[in-house]
Amino acid sequence: MSGITTLGQFIIEKQADFPYAKGELSRLLRDIGIAAKIVNREVNKAGLVDILGDAGQVNVQGEGQKKLDVYADEQFIKALQSGGECCVVASEEHENPVYIQSGVSKNAKYIVCIDPLDGSSNIDVNVSVGTIFSIYRRISDTGVSCNNNDILQHGTKQVAAGYVIYGSSTMLVYTTGKGVNGFTLDPSIGEFCLSHPDMQIPASGQIYSINEGNYSKFPNGVKQYIKYCQMEDSATQRPYASRYIGSMVADIHRNLLKGGIFLYPTTSAHPNGKLRLMYECNPIAFIIEQAGGKASNGSQRILDIEPKTLHQRSAAFLGNTDMVELLEDFLKKY
Ligand code: AHG
Ligand code: MN
Ligand code: MN
Ligand code: MN
Repeated sequence: MSGITTLGQFIIEKQADFPYAKGELSRLLRDIGIAAKIVNREVNKAGLVDILGDAGQVNVQGEGQKKLDVYADEQFIKALQSGGECCVVASEEHENPVYIQSGVSKNAKYIVCIDPLDGSSNIDVNVSVGTIFSIYRRISDTGVSCNNNDILQHGTKQVAAGYVIYGSSTMLVYTTGKGVNGFTLDPSIGEFCLSHPDMQIPASGQIYSINEGNYSKFPNGVKQYIKYCQMEDSATQRPYASRYIGSMVADIHRNLLKGGIFLYPTTSAHPNGKLRLMYECNPIAFIIEQAGGKASNGSQRILDIEPKTLHQRSAAFLGNTDMVELLEDFLKKY
């Protein structure tokens, strides 16, 4: 046997780490991995088949859906439905939770919140997109319908979270609260293989990632922080590099590997922030914390935010702890 560890093998090996070691969470993660491969196949041939462009519908966020948004959503829901371990899926693309109450899923113990395709605006131009997922354990009794309380749990209650990046290579990165591990899809064998064990954000970062076109709409503290990033100072290796792809997954993945801060503040256009708490901020915050970084909404730990609605938004500042803390200081000061 070669030295390769596939995602499937790794999940089984780590099963003992789960507080509820029954194999159900392992199977759920495996199902997500399978759907990710199907979506990857479609993303890869996007220019060749009729999958680019608008689907012609608008989702609950008021965003025009792309065909790949709809396709990815269908694939993940289908995989979770037939897998039998998930009782409800909360997706960016559905106003209401999608309950899976029938067949094998009746007694399912897990809840999945998902952004099936992150970075929609980059699909048509061959720039990296992603998938983000968050997994909770059901709190209501099995056998009856699960409910909103099962879905609207604090980020601290996540039992697993991860993302897939469909980039120059495709990777799946996830945590179950015992560190972060990254797997690269080997297309020749069709398996995600462990390539980035125990990922930790580097000790210091010199990258800031923000949509600076919105500068005039930012809170003053964020404006001042951007000026700080641009100021010359050899001791802190400033000016920092500005890097912004516009797919949260890709921006976070780069910063996780290289160090840096990702910012999506409140703006006058998005007074509560743009990114969604349940399927963008919380799962990425879990990963960033597990990798040794910090995730804040500017004044509070993201994972402690009280979820009130499924599509609730939040400001998000994620990355190296010292960078996020300095940003928080700027928000307090200005
Ligand atoms: P989605 O494609 O899932 O709707 O998410 C888009 C998000 C996120 O990926 C990205 O970080 C952000 O929107 C970009 O927003 P701006 O275009 O406003 O910078
Ligand atoms: Mn969207
Ligand atoms: Mn998104
Ligand atoms: Mn999306």
